[in-house]
Amino acid sequence: MTLAVVTGAARGIGHAIAAGLTEDGYDVVTVDLAGADVLADLADTRALAELVDGVRREHGPIGVLVNNAGTARLEHFNEITVESWRHVMAVNCDAPFFLSQRTAEHMIADGVEGRIVNISSKNGLVAEAGLAHYNASKGALELITKSLAAELGPFGITVNAVAPGMVATPIDGDFPLDRAAFEAAWEERIPLRGGYGAPSDVAGAVRYLVSGAARYVTGSTLVVDGGVLADQMPRRRFMPPYRNSVS
Ligand SMILES: NC(=O)c1ccc[n+]([C@@H]2O[C@H](COP(=O)([O-])OP(=O)(O)OC[C@H]3O[C@@H](n4cnc5c(N)ncnc54)[C@H](O)[C@@H]3O)[C@@H](O)[C@H]2O)c1
Repeated sequence: MTLAVVTGAARGIGHAIAAGLTEDGYDVVTVDLAGADVLADLADTRALAELVDGVRREHGPIGVLVNNAGTARLEHFNEITVESWRHVMAVNCDAPFFLSQRTAEHMIADGVEGRIVNISSKNGLVAEAGLAHYNASKGALELITKSLAAELGPFGITVNAVAPGMVATPIDGDFPLDRAAFEAAWEERIPLRGGYGAPSDVAGAVRYLVSGAARYVTGSTLVVDGGVLADQMPRRRFMPPYRNSVS
């Protein structure tokens, strides 16, 4: 049975990823601040190598690492303190890098053609106001993904990213905004019928990327956003109603 480590798996997208991989037959070890197999604060960058070593010692060779844990804060650019900037970067960018670094070393030592998947964001590809630190952390994660894909390819290890759009989870529950109006605006903005995505939509992309079907895919980003980044603005709202010329 292949061992898969999923960070931030106590809730939200990570929980769905862990459930999906379990369904696919992986032996899953979850990591989170609470409510997981391994309890760890991933902002403690210097403790990450030992965390990975501990998982390897206790559970055997690691075949899959999903760097999903993440944090977001809504703050104007001039309100972001050094502490806030460092925290967001530590969790969203430093932790995936150093967890991948140590995990990949074990994969190489164990002769495992492993899979690493980083959960970035549409904000790693296009910015959004109020999230300068978050955008920067996810943008960096996009290039970490490509950098590691290039370095780990010769060992048969693939490294990819999944960039979710708007997914219903508690990640932005503390954001100081009019939530009903905000969510209604997004529902209009998202092209694909149904609006917000579900954690299982992101898990589906991860399940594909770690599978044999994605053997030749590395250094890629799979955008799972219901078409948001494909559409500059919802011009369709200002157009005459759609008329089907077939029926
Ligand atoms: N929900 C969305 O709309 C959305 C969109 C794009 C990207 N993402 C990304 O998806 C990932 C999962 O987000 P989510 O929406 O499920 O959020 P969430 O807040 O529901 O879950 C995040 C998990 O990460 C854990 N975590 C946070 N900081 C940690 C730390 N220092 N140490 C250990 N664990 C920590 C939390 O405890 C939590 O269980 C994140 O990387 C996020 O940036 C989410």
